[in-house]
Amino acid sequence: MVKTTDIGRFYYYFPQAVTVVGVDRNVMPVAWHTPISAQPPLFGILVSPKRYTYSLLKQEDGFTVNFMDFNEASLIAKIGGTSGRDIDKLKKFKIAYKPGEEVNGVIITSSYAAYECEKHAEHVIGDHSLFVGKIIVIHYRKEIITLDGLIDEKKLLPMLYFGKDRYITVNPQTTVVHKRG
Ligand SMILES: Cc1cc2nc3c(=O)[nH]c(=O)nc-3n(C[C@H](O)[C@H](O)[C@H](O)COP(=O)(O)O)c2cc1C
Repeated sequence: MVKTTDIGRFYYYFPQAVTVVGVDRNVMPVAWHTPISAQPPLFGILVSPKRYTYSLLKQEDGFTVNFMDFNEASLIAKIGGTSGRDIDKLKKFKIAYKPGEEVNGVIITSSYAAYECEKHAEHVIGDHSLFVGKIIVIHYRKEIITLDGLIDEKKLLPMLYFGKDRYITVNPQTTVVHKRG
């Protein structure tokens, strides 16, 4: 290995699963996201103050997080290259959705799972803000879930982002199970 102290964009964490965050009637892809706590169930998203979504997150009490499969990669590129400041993305890209039941965000019909999150905390961290949501409702497609509550890797191709507009998925045949310890 070589080393550098010229840190730049430190892209070595890719690939990242892409989610779509919905606030009010706007949607944006978010690759920087993380589960934070199991009990209470907390999920974090990192959003730059440059995004229109950021101003909506500041105003609203909650947001949605939609998980979509690899077939939706071109839609992700579209909603990640446009701003809700300029267009109504739901209309322009003909995105089927229903409004959240508990929060002011959208549940995208083609997603395989979606969280409705109440805004729990916000922390400014460097050039992004961490919005922490408490998950209060989960919508999911029953047929893709195993008895353990995990996604069945044979039933969907997850959407991963590799940086610089490259999307990739996984080959389910590479799954191996190693018991811990
Ligand atoms: C695959 C992908 C992942 C992205 N992840 C993030 C992210 O985690 N945080 C962020 O602030 N912006 C991220 N972006 C950029 C925003 O999605 C993009 O600037 C979007 O157009 C903002 O829309 P808005 O202005 O309607 O909020 C990502 C873009 C793409 C294409």
